[in-house]
Amino acid sequence: MNLTGVSDTGKSILGEQFAVTQAGNSENTLFITVEAPAEFLYNALVSKAVAMSIDKAKVEEYIYILDLSRNFNLRGNINNLIKTLETATVSHNIKHLVIDSFTGLFESKEMYARDIVRTRYNFLKIHKITTIMISQKRIGQEYLSAEAAGGFAVSHIVDGTIVLSKQIITNRFESATFKKPIGEVIRLIRIDGCRMCAHDKKTYVFEITQEELIKILYPLAKLTEGGEKHEKDRAY
Ligand SMILES: Nc1ncnc2c1ncn2[C@@H]1O[C@H](COP(=O)(O)OP(=O)(O)OP(=O)(O)O)[C@@H](O)[C@H]1O
Ligand SMILES: [Mg+2]
Repeated sequence: MNLTGVSDTGKSILGEQFAVTQAGNSENTLFITVEAPAEFLYNALVSKAVAMSIDKAKVEEYIYILDLSRNFNLRGNINNLIKTLETATVSHNIKHLVIDSFTGLFESKEMYARDIVRTRYNFLKIHKITTIMISQKRIGQEYLSAEAAGGFAVSHIVDGTIVLSKQIITNRFESATFKKPIGEVIRLIRIDGCRMCAHDKKTYVFEITQEELIKILYPLAKLTEGGEKHEKDRAY
């Protein structure tokens, strides 16, 4: 799955939450961190485990971290990275993978994004590894679409896309629609598409809790339900 959104929309939080959930189920998960160094990621994972009432020991036992934040040799060499990934997945019986972020692997060579994604996708598919590939959006890319850095390269190849977005309430119309005061942020999540699989088509409102967890609140459509009912009543 491609997990995309502009900066600060909660992609890393969701990726970490996914990894901790899998560790909680005693499933080996590999976390490739391209941005945050391993020691920061470790702290984030452990605090999430505590907030989710999952034993910290499970995080330590089932989550493997491949830290590429300072390893430019592996980061820039797709063949070496695939070999490392292959060795890690086989020797540690990896079932799930989070790559945060995939965009970081083709910095300054977005033209090759498609090839990089395709090679990686084929490998992961063969090994049946559930993967969350985090990709950042560039300014100007439609905020609720599947497009991200590298164009549609990631979303076209992988099985599906989850999009996170945030919107700042800037006027009275938005304030009335989203039922939030001006200046507050409304966060949205939706599944943009999923190949060969039925999925929920609704856009949901979510919040990031004090413990830095994603909490889905309600479908966005709920906000207009009252208005629609009112319109219906008037029509009859
Ligand atoms: N404890 C908290 N309470 C409320 N919001 C929080 C909390 N911790 C983090 N956040 C929000 O989550 C955002 C960070 O989310 P995250 O790091 O997952 O973003 P991201 O989508 O991965 O961004 P990037 O593309 O820059 O990596 C922060 O900017 C902040 O708004
Ligand atoms: Mg991030």
